[in-house]
Amino acid sequence: MAIQIAPSILSADFANLERDILEVADADWLHVDVMDGHFVPNMTLGLPVVERIAQVSPLPIDAHLMIDDPDRWAPRYAEAGAASVTFHLEAARDPRAIAADLHSLGKRASCAIKPGTPVEDVLPLIDTLDMVLVMTVEPGFGGQSFMADMVPKLTTLRAAAEAAGRDLRLQTDGGIARATIGTVVEAGCDVVVAGSAIYGAPDRAGEIAALRELAEAVHHHA
Ligand code: DX5
Ligand code: ZN
Repeated sequence: MAIQIAPSILSADFANLERDILEVADADWLHVDVMDGHFVPNMTLGLPVVERIAQVSPLPIDAHLMIDDPDRWAPRYAEAGAASVTFHLEAARDPRAIAADLHSLGKRASCAIKPGTPVEDVLPLIDTLDMVLVMTVEPGFGGQSFMADMVPKLTTLRAAAEAAGRDLRLQTDGGIARATIGTVVEAGCDVVVAGSAIYGAPDRAGEIAALRELAEAVHHHA
């Protein structure tokens, strides 16, 4: 499976969002961080904004829901146009039901775990998920430092998915840049989120290409 790059618009210019979205059209997904000020101590944007972003984005939307009550809201983000919806395990009452709801809408279902959540908590769910997101920072803000001690979670998940014969995507989010992308891809990550690394670069397309090249170099040796 080829590596996929998902630029996070959390680090884009929210007053020029369409322009900044078009600048990353060479990537694979548009990562949209939804925060509610309750599940995480920050707020970003909600359903009406995601709906408009989905209309103008050349890339499919990868919605990362850092919100309470994903059982209620995850399907709404799928209906708003997200092709993949990631909910947090820590906030979910019935993760299997959320995944089933997303699948019945024809969308991809993904579950995220925060740094303090053991990987064992998500392992029983991989038969029903299309992707697992391993957070490599505490969710809430862009531009934080990569937590290298999260990497073994990727190794465990990749081994479990292979043992189960599951075509499971593994996503990493937080502190990914040229210096860290190789580590996560080597451990089995194949969908890489990068916010400040891409939007902080003067040439966004060039940064996506550079990250992709570094990731593919490691991936083909793995
Ligand atoms: C943080 C968000 C990330 C954020 C990553 O809670 O989920 O998607 O944009 O930002 P960087 O890549 O700057 O760490
Ligand atoms: Zn995110």
